[in-house]
Amino acid sequence: MAGSVLEIKDLHVSIEDKEILKGVNLTIKSGEFHAVMGPNGTGKSTLASAIMGHPKYEVTGGSITLDGEDVLEMEVDERARAGLFLAMQYPSEISGVTNADFLRSSINARREEGDEISLMKFIKEMDEAMDFLEMDKNMAQRYLNEGFSGGEKKRNEILQLLMMKAEIGILDEIDSGLDIDALKVVAKGINKLRDENFGCLIITHYQRLLNYIEPDFVHVMMQGRVVKSGGSELSQRLEAEGYDWIKKELNIEDETINA
Ligand SMILES: Nc1ncnc2c1ncn2[C@@H]1O[C@H](COP(=O)(O)OP(=O)(O)OP(=O)(O)O)[C@@H](O)[C@H]1O
Ligand SMILES: [Mg+2]
Repeated sequence: MAGSVLEIKDLHVSIEDKEILKGVNLTIKSGEFHAVMGPNGTGKSTLASAIMGHPKYEVTGGSITLDGEDVLEMEVDERARAGLFLAMQYPSEISGVTNADFLRSSINARREEGDEISLMKFIKEMDEAMDFLEMDKNMAQRYLNEGFSGGEKKRNEILQLLMMKAEIGILDEIDSGLDIDALKVVAKGINKLRDENFGCLIITHYQRLLNYIEPDFVHVMMQGRVVKSGGSELSQRLEAEGYDWIKKELNIEDETINA
């Protein structure tokens, strides 16, 4: 299982015939934590959705592979089974499906038929993960995300991430809406997975999360491309100075709104 690599090459994605991603290149190996930052509307969530196969996002060029396998050829559930996990910026609510049932069927979807996790083992693992994330046990029996507060949804995404044993996680603004203590808990959850079997792409606007989860690489997305990559010094400079200096350095003109 060790040694997964997600390779995104010259990825072009359109939404309703408007090109949003204009040639994204990014390689994430297990064991690596990558942060992606960038101004609003530059295509960060579009990248996450395209990796997971959201039907609205049409890939018009380039490739995404996981360990050499063509991800773009996979159905959405196959992508999850292959070890990709997405924590969405706005997690969806599913009425009528409890959090525990959703988790258990998601875990089993990644296992061979006949090798499903036993109920006892599942409950034990869920209990431990919920303790670790300081979650109220009642959350297990509530309908998925229904009525969850913003921060509860984010913490719940990390519960799924911990239990799913994904190889590559894509975490879209997992820190948005978290209170100061919850931010630490979420970071603790992500750091627990830090080993050679897990890599992740953390989309965030703020250094505050990266103070707890030290990224190995920081990338800046602008206008549908990764325009700059570096180490954690890059996110620190962005926090202090914003994005104007990158635009100047790379001669990037401001896009007109609704162009
Ligand atoms: N489903 C959609 N229908 C129409 N336009 C869309 C859709 N999804 C994204 N877009 C547009 O694509 C562009 C990129 O959006 P995206 O959500 O990827 O930005 P982002 O970088 O994640 O921004 P933020 O930092 O605000 O989350 C935006 O102009 C947005 O309006
Ligand atoms: Mg977004």
